[in-house]
Amino acid sequence: MEAFKQEQATWGGRFSSGPSELMLQFGESISFDSKLAVFDIACNRAQAKMLAHTGILTAEECTAILAGLDGIEEELRAGTLKFSLSLEDIHMNIEQALTKRVPAAAKIHTGRSRNDQVATDMRLFFKHAAVSVAKSLDAVADALLDFAEKNQKVYIPGYTHLQRAQPVSVAHHLLAYVEMFMRDRGRFETVADHANWSPLGSGAIAGTTLPIDRDFAARAMGFVDAGGNARLTRNSMDAVSDRDTYLEFAAASAICGLHLSRLAEDFILWNTSEFGFIVLPDAFTTGSSLMPQKKNPDSMELIRGKSARLQGNLLALLTMVKGLPLTYNRDLQEDKPPVFDSFEQLSLCLEVVAQVLAGSQMREDRCAAAVADPLLLATDVADYLVRAGVPFREAHHAVGHLVAKAEALGVPLDKLPLEEAQAIHPKLAADWVKTFDLETAMRSREKPGMPGPEQVASQIAFWKNRKR
Ligand code: ARG
Repeated sequence: MEAFKQEQATWGGRFSSGPSELMLQFGESISFDSKLAVFDIACNRAQAKMLAHTGILTAEECTAILAGLDGIEEELRAGTLKFSLSLEDIHMNIEQALTKRVPAAAKIHTGRSRNDQVATDMRLFFKHAAVSVAKSLDAVADALLDFAEKNQKVYIPGYTHLQRAQPVSVAHHLLAYVEMFMRDRGRFETVADHANWSPLGSGAIAGTTLPIDRDFAARAMGFVDAGGNARLTRNSMDAVSDRDTYLEFAAASAICGLHLSRLAEDFILWNTSEFGFIVLPDAFTTGSSLMPQKKNPDSMELIRGKSARLQGNLLALLTMVKGLPLTYNRDLQEDKPPVFDSFEQLSLCLEVVAQVLAGSQMREDRCAAAVADPLLLATDVADYLVRAGVPFREAHHAVGHLVAKAEALGVPLDKLPLEEAQAIHPKLAADWVKTFDLETAMRSREKPGMPGPEQVASQIAFWKNRKR
């Protein structure tokens, strides 16, 4: 029993027996919150400096504690820091390791609870993770832009309902994903900003009677605005139970995962024998154990699969928080695995996509054959009639007739004899077949956001010159 009380120095005092072995296993979080070690150390450094500033620690005690924390961080980096399951979580593990080195660390928990401590550690984690994901998103955007630049002149059918619709360049298609990923980047920047408020000093629920300085601690951890002023959470009860940043991070990850999944799906389709638009790199495809000819796009399929996982993580968090009364409830310990998982899996997916893009090749012959389908420019024929003064509805109807007629005669639309065409609409002159010139069709789409080559080139330049 005494051994337990000594080991469980943080809360053992009130208990006459220790938790059962099963409860220890059930209640521990060190198996996953050990990922917070660097942030917990940072939080402890700020706490020590703040306590010295307000006179609770002497300058010597503070110096000794800071040196102790440096030593712990070194061990952490070297991989030699040992964690104990019976100490439950990262906070108690670090505090215990510190107290063993520096007896004065018995004062470190003054005016602090694990409730505001974990909230603080996680806010530091989110600031780090959001910036890291933003960097990965930039790398994906760069890979997309390189690929787009190489394929500005490669045209393919664009699809709606997975039916051939109108021609676009591969560059225009991929620039759509740059838009998505750069919106994702903005969402992660917002997450970093929303995380940037210090909850430290909120205590368990209602702060503390002791002389702490929240402002000082916040500044020591970098919870500051652009002018260097501390940003402090305003309500202690909200501060220890708020999980909005977790939800926002998981939501931003889920939305980004969804964009990745759509890109993966496009590549999976393009990689089929039926489409044959793209060759994925050997390094990111795998073979079949039975069928020797197979080269499967597993990397892209895994991204599609992992995007489901990212959505699941968001849903787990939403459901967890939904019915909780204020303030902290132990349910909230389960909030960490989903966000760590989202961070790790999303980071991996982004890295994989960037490398797949760098190693992929469009099959220009197959793209050219697909985009030669004259039906892709049926809308341009309607536009031709509009330019000849025909109301759009009438033009649309007439072109529908042309398409049906060509089909009935078994000829491609652009090979429909002029007499047949003119019988359907007299405003179709001999030059109507010029409509089917692909380069002309593309050059006719140069208004903002359209797939004209100049537009596309300027979009590429716009994104390449973006602020980071
Ligand atoms: N490991 C705990 C968690 O992650 C830390 C907070 C514990 N607070 C408490 N009142 N038991 O939620």
